[in-house]
Parts: sequence; C-alpha cells; structure tokens
Amino acid sequence: MNALIVYESGFGNTAKIAQAIGEGLTTKLGSTGHVEVRAVADVEAVHMANVDMLVVGSATRGFRAMPVTKALLKGLSAKGLNNVKVAAFDTRFTEEKIRTSGWLLNTMVKLFGYAAKPIAAALVKKGGVLAATPVGFYVDDIEGPLLAGEETRAAEWASQLVSGPVPA
Ligand SMILES: Cc1cc2nc3c(=O)[nH]c(=O)nc-3n(C[C@H](O)[C@H](O)[C@H](O)COP(=O)(O)O)c2cc1C
Repeated sequence: MNALIVYESGFGNTAKIAQAIGEGLTTKLGSTGHVEVRAVADVEAVHMANVDMLVVGSATRGFRAMPVTKALLKGLSAKGLNNVKVAAFDTRFTEEKIRTSGWLLNTMVKLFGYAAKPIAAALVKKGGVLAATPVGFYVDDIEGPLLAGEETRAAEWASQLVSGPVPA
C-alpha cells in the first residue's frame, strides 16, 4: 500500500502529529507499505499518483483548514480519489480552553466545529473511502505545545486506518 500524509502547520504542532501518523502507519504496514509525509506546499500531482491511502491534516484556523490545504482539496478532480482510502485530522484548542474563552468563541465552535470534519467531507466528495472517523489533536495554546500523549494517540489512530473503512 502506498500512503501519503499531507499536512499544513503554522507553528509545527500539526507537522509533529503528521510525522507520528507516518510512523504509526509505517509500523502497521511493515514491508507491505510505502509511507510518505509531506507538507502541503510540497505536494505536486506526481506525489498523488498511485496513492492507495491519503491522509490530510491541518491546524484549525477559524474553524476550518488552513488556506493551502483548502486549495489542494478544491483542486482535486471530481473523481480523483476513487478507490483511495482517505482520512482527516486537525490540531485544535482543548474543549476546556474554548469553554473558558467566552461565549462568542464557545458558540462559534458549537456552530462551526473544527477542520478535520470538513477536510474528510471534501475527500469523500472527490471519491475517497473514509477509513477512520475524523480526529482532532490538542494543543495547549496557539503555538503549542501538543498535550502530553497526543503523538502516541496519533500513531494509534493511524494504525486503525489500515482496517477501515468506517460507516458513513
Ligand atoms: C488565526 C488563528 C485562528 C485559530 N482558530 C482556531 C479555531 O477556530 N479553533 C481552534 O480550536 N483553534 C484555533 N486556533 C489554534 C490553532 O488550532 C493552533 O494554533 C494550532 O493547532 C497549532 O498547530 P500548528 O503548530 O501546526 O500551527 C487558531 C490559531 C490561529 C493563529
């Protein structure tokens, strides 16, 4: 299986999660897999060709993915991910931080959520088969750090991707 993990990160936390997902997948697939982790700005059509699994992750910015990730998803052809297993993740504030940040942010998050779900929806729209429930990993503050254990959780989530798909 050829797996590509694409990420967009402002301060490096999402990059760390992407690397952990790459390591989790590499361990799970062993010699049957080829796993690549790339920043979205370095992804070209050639990297997407012959991919059996595509995992896309972004830092949450204003409840959605960062701009280059959005552009990549938009630019995929209509059936471009047919037969490709797909999954999505994000990094985000903790529920505790959002709860204590005032009613406005609280209400906005309730209404608009985080990046992972819309990324997954975009991947499925382009023909992808969802391999895992979209997931968020927590940062302590805007620039991080990741909460303790999040990289381990990311590697564990990655190992489930191989057994997907999940019900829609
Ligand atoms: C302009 C801006 C908007 C943000 N919006 C959200 C948001 O809507 N929801 C959220 O949970 N975190 C939000 N954050 C926090 C980011 O999710 C956090 O900075 C990110 O997870 C860190 O990952 P990175 O190091 O890969 O950039 C925002 C951060 C910035 C700078």
